[in-house]
Amino acid sequence: MTSKTAKLSIPQRDNTTMDIDLPVYEGSEGPDVVDVAKLTAQGHFTFDPGFTSTASCESKITYIDGEKGILLHRGYPIEQLAEQSDYLETCYLLLNGELPNADQKREFVDMVTNHTMVHEQIRTFFNGFRRDAHPMAIMCGVVGALSAFYHDSTDISDPYHREVAAFRLIAKMPTIAAMSYKFSIGQPFMYPRNDLDYSANFLHMMFGNPCEPSVISPTIARAMDRIFLLHADHEQNASTSTVRLAGSSQANPFACIAAGIAALWGPSHGGANEAVVKMLDEIGDVSRIDEFVAKAKDKNDPFRLMGFGHRVYKNFDPRAKVMKQAADEVLAELGIQDENLEIAKRLEEIALNDPYFIEKKLYPNVDFYSGIILKALGIPTSMFTVIFAVGRTVGWVAHWNEMIGGSYRIGRPRQLYTGYSARDFVSVEDR
Ligand code: CMC
Repeated sequence: MTSKTAKLSIPQRDNTTMDIDLPVYEGSEGPDVVDVAKLTAQGHFTFDPGFTSTASCESKITYIDGEKGILLHRGYPIEQLAEQSDYLETCYLLLNGELPNADQKREFVDMVTNHTMVHEQIRTFFNGFRRDAHPMAIMCGVVGALSAFYHDSTDISDPYHREVAAFRLIAKMPTIAAMSYKFSIGQPFMYPRNDLDYSANFLHMMFGNPCEPSVISPTIARAMDRIFLLHADHEQNASTSTVRLAGSSQANPFACIAAGIAALWGPSHGGANEAVVKMLDEIGDVSRIDEFVAKAKDKNDPFRLMGFGHRVYKNFDPRAKVMKQAADEVLAELGIQDENLEIAKRLEEIALNDPYFIEKKLYPNVDFYSGIILKALGIPTSMFTVIFAVGRTVGWVAHWNEMIGGSYRIGRPRQLYTGYSARDFVSVEDR
């Protein structure tokens, strides 16, 4: 980082002005950042609700240019990774900074494959949940509970412990995700199969049953793999920031990832893929699109077009482009006619030509098409956000590890206080 200086003049309450020099840092890409850390010593804070202008950390993992629609993992464009790589290779890249050579890749895949089974006691842990529990609720609980089962990888100061925790999380997430689903439909849990690749094994655990051998379509497995890959990381989004914040208190990795899952669940973040399909179902017919677009534009109506808009992307979401292409390919290959896809395409067309959406730079995001493709793959709607969580686990772990492996302080934002000034307590008889 090279350093320049920004000058800040802050009017004081006694009508004088305080001039402060603040260092400016240059990243390898993206806008320069002004380091405001020393403001607090001068008696001031910055105010940025929603962190729209705040770089909360330094990172080397993922870069997004929202104006140009660019997403790079360790410098590699997402389109190239989606086309030429696979999920576990991308995991290696995110965690280690470089693409693996053939031996490194084999070793990494073996390691993940050999950690897919969960502690047998976890199977009984599931019985504490109601059968109709949302799988994301189960995920929050079970992943958080992993620290109770894997004490031997919770010493965060030990790089080996951190590495084992990373392997365990990436490997066991599909197993726990599939168990959440099997539990909800009352079917027996399926043990992982180490002869299958990551995505095929997930499909086996989701849709297989102990009475007959699983038959996994390579088309579906490849599409699943691409979905995991497209969700692998997205720099300092709400869930990743949550993981970093939880990790900054030196909490164990399993607890931190559970915190990330909780943050992902909301419909403004990962929950949007489930919400998109519910919205398309509700629209039901192309003839009703205008009505829903009007609702989305109405300031007095809380309804938003799910799968549209993004805090960072103000041009297009490159993941949505790949996802849309994948949706077309999968539906064509599986011979599926999906009315939702027709509604989605028409909705996209109408919204993209509407002045409201143009002016506010609202484009379809990754969740807009992922719901459709997941539906085509036979994934139940309640599992959509779970699948996002499975794919994003590597991103959470990579950011957590980057932070813990470097220098960090506990995350502790301040506030603009607008409540009462000090006042004397009034006893209950006098109120
Ligand atoms: N439909 C209608 N209006 C919208 C939408 C939408 N989907 N998204 C934003 N707007 C409007 C919003 O009302 C506001 O208008 P105004 O300036 O007049 O008040 C303006 O656009 C800016 O919106 P914002 O809420 O201030 O923007 P944000 O950056 O805080 O929120 C967002 C980003 C993704 C939460 C939001 O666009 C949204 O709620 N989208 C729908 C949910 C969704 O698809 N989420 C998935 C995000 S991508 C995957 C992921 O990262 O998890």
